[in-house]
Amino acid sequence: MKRKQVLLCIFAVVTALSMNIGAGTASAEAERAWDLTLPSLKDTFADYFGVGNILEPVESANAETAAMFKHHYNFVTAENAMKPSNLSRGPGDFRLFQSDQLVDWAVENGINVVGHTLVWHSQSARWLNTNDDGSPLTRAEARENMEEYINTVAGHFAGRIYSWDVVNEAFQTSVSSAPAETIDGWWRTMLRTGSGGNDASMWYAAYANGMDEEAGEHPGDYIYDAFVFARLADPNAILYYNDFNETDQGKREAMAQMTEELNKQWETDPLNTEPGRLLIEGLGMQAHYWTDNLTPASVELTIMRFAETGARVSITELDIPIGRWNGYREANEETLARQAELYQQLFEVFMRHSDSIERVTFWGKADTQSWRRQGNPLLFDGSFRAKPAFHSIMAVAPDPSLPSEPDPEEDDDENITDVAEDGGDDGRDEQDFSWGIIAIAIAGGGVLVLGGTLLMLNKRK
Ligand code: XIL
Repeated sequence: MKRKQVLLCIFAVVTALSMNIGAGTASAEAERAWDLTLPSLKDTFADYFGVGNILEPVESANAETAAMFKHHYNFVTAENAMKPSNLSRGPGDFRLFQSDQLVDWAVENGINVVGHTLVWHSQSARWLNTNDDGSPLTRAEARENMEEYINTVAGHFAGRIYSWDVVNEAFQTSVSSAPAETIDGWWRTMLRTGSGGNDASMWYAAYANGMDEEAGEHPGDYIYDAFVFARLADPNAILYYNDFNETDQGKREAMAQMTEELNKQWETDPLNTEPGRLLIEGLGMQAHYWTDNLTPASVELTIMRFAETGARVSITELDIPIGRWNGYREANEETLARQAELYQQLFEVFMRHSDSIERVTFWGKADTQSWRRQGNPLLFDGSFRAKPAFHSIMAVAPDPSLPSEPDPEEDDDENITDVAEDGGDDGRDEQDFSWGIIAIAIAGGGVLVLGGTLLMLNKRK
């Protein structure tokens, strides 16, 4: 009897403590919710450009994510689902079902779909350009496979796709400078070649294998072919070339000169049935920047140079991690403020050139979901709360009735962001602390009850 009472008391204390800890976790989860009372990004910039983000098919099936997406964005890009490695495993072996779900969801909700991407050296399907032993297919074989792939994929989604990133990242990672005078075909010498490990392009290698140089063939001809196949497979889609480090003077020129030359070639191509319409109609600036070395002036120069080609421009994968390439830095009040300032300056540039800009797409929704999550690169933190960067962008919006950045003195918590990877503060510590106090109080109470009971038992002895 006595032992039973003691055990009961201990059980009560332990239960109280564990319920308390459980309640803390559940409420932290509940806190991680999108705030749909915030002004909408797409509505705010509606007079200037579209606003997009990435989504995977499984995410579009999540009610909260879908509601948030509809609130803020009118363009969607699949982060990975529509890359060749995910759509095809072999000749005639196409797996389009999951992407269909995402595309259908977007179309039903009036969201424009960006197809990403048809021809890329990375996340590609091996059979397209490579033999089993790793050697490149011949030019003729690769061309035929490319045609089959683009016909099947772009043909399948035709009517539901707003634009395609037809070719992604064909140029070398870094093209720092361009010759002062425009030299015909210079851009071809800046393409990724068939060597260079992970950086190599097997499309280039295959197109070099069996080419007729005397007839003027070049390994880089795969780019023109890809655009022509895409135009024929889905004449309604707007066709983009997409690349990164586009703010480097050399890369900017290479992208622009390629666009000008291939569009000229298309003018007299017998397959061209729409005179006056460009083949490469859009240039995508991936815009994977870093807080430590981004100069908004170089972004502006790139937009202006791209607009000169006659193509439209989109910001296709925007993020600004804190730090630099291979050197993430901590998110704190100062670095988050710097990040917000850069986002603001970029949006000022985008708005100035909105006549040339079709859309601005962010490469990620909340920091913890980013491919560069260690740099906390986005507008929303790991608890889905708007960061200073969100408010700074809204501050450049034309409507004065829109809220500007909250006073940090007034609401300090808002500025705490997720730096979980660095073992930092994810904004939940304070809450855990208060639950800790309650836990101690209850534990204290439990100890008192326990003490009292033991005293009573002692007296009875
Ligand atoms: C990235 C995805 O975000 C990652 O999930 C994946 O592991 C690798 O690819 N340029 C592009 C995008 O065009 O497709 C890349 O996306 C990021 C760089």
